[in-house]
Amino acid sequence: MKLDKVQITQFRNIESATIFPSPHLNVVVGQNGSGKSSFLESLHYLGFGRSFRTNKHKSVIQSAQSQFSVFAECTDHKDEQHKIGIMRNTKDEFLCSINGERSQRLANLVSYIPVQIFTPQSTDMLIGPPTHRRRFIDWGLFHVEQSFYTQSVNYAKILKQRNALLKYQQIGKKIDIAQMDYWSHQLAIYGEKIDKDRQNYISALKIIFKRISEQFLPEFSLEISYNRGWDSETDFLAALQQKLPYDSRIGYTSIGIHKADLKIKADGALAIERLSRGQLRMLVAALQLSQTLHLFEATNKSGIFLLDDIGAELDLDKRQKFIEALLDTNTQLFVTAIEKDHLSFVEEYNDKKMFHVEHGRVNEEQ
Ligand SMILES: Nc1ncnc2c1ncn2[C@@H]1O[C@H](COP(=O)(O)OP(=O)(O)O)[C@@H](O)[C@H]1O
Ligand SMILES: [Mg+2]
Repeated sequence: MKLDKVQITQFRNIESATIFPSPHLNVVVGQNGSGKSSFLESLHYLGFGRSFRTNKHKSVIQSAQSQFSVFAECTDHKDEQHKIGIMRNTKDEFLCSINGERSQRLANLVSYIPVQIFTPQSTDMLIGPPTHRRRFIDWGLFHVEQSFYTQSVNYAKILKQRNALLKYQQIGKKIDIAQMDYWSHQLAIYGEKIDKDRQNYISALKIIFKRISEQFLPEFSLEISYNRGWDSETDFLAALQQKLPYDSRIGYTSIGIHKADLKIKADGALAIERLSRGQLRMLVAALQLSQTLHLFEATNKSGIFLLDDIGAELDLDKRQKFIEALLDTNTQLFVTAIEKDHLSFVEEYNDKKMFHVEHGRVNEEQ
């Protein structure tokens, strides 16, 4: 999917902006506080329905205004045109618009555009809690495996029911054993399916990652492993039953795909303990690039990649390597920098557009 036209209104310090991006490289330059990250954040809303900086939707609505909107006209990999958009107001209501139809199902919108982002905080994916890494895997699955979304919504609903029963037991209330059995069986069905999808996805990703990490971090031998969230020797239902006495004591389901994690090792040691900050950033870049490539190879779809403050994040030669590799996968790129010098190598690139941001105004440079 390529964005052909983007219209932003009342989003942070961007009162109103209409831009016609390049399908390839877009460079966004501006002083600190001019609105570069806000611009990327508005595009992030199209791909995720949320910000990458805050959980509070209200804080992105322009001060003294009651709503923001982001609309885009885009072209997909089959050369078909689409119009999509999102609006949110200060009452916390939101609305998506897809080809003229209004919807309140965010999944309808976010399935349109695979958006990825690399920011100064991206190493949280490696350093932070397992949720970050599950989100990483599930983003990829969501865009390549059609059934994944419904499966994971079902899993979450069933987990909630089962946990409610366990909570009852924990506080000493009598529960219906048959009901517990039913939820365990249901949870096992969806859990096993999602686990299989994740395992397949990671196996495919590993092959691409090997190739990419040899280019980006040639000094290390890197290895990804997946912990599915329960004992690798048992099937999920048997594991749930074994754990039932323990789960009844603690009042929730302690195993399952909601506890899964990714481990990345460098020369046999945990990557987060072995690699420097800069090397960890390269590792995240390599992982994200592997996803972009996988998406392209598996579905022929290309996504949108947002790179915020790249100058502060990667050395010049790595910056260039990363951007060139992304452009090779037909990704539409939006890269921000405080100074053009941070991206001096793009001068020789064709098919790019340069934008200048000042006090929330986004202007294309001629
Ligand atoms: N809700 C809002 N309404 C108006 N302005 C805002 C809002 N939220 C943030 N800003 C302002 O938007 C400006 C742009 O911030 P940002 O996009 O982070 O800049 P940059 O990434 O270019 O350094 C900042 O000056 C900030 O104070
Ligand atoms: Mg910024």
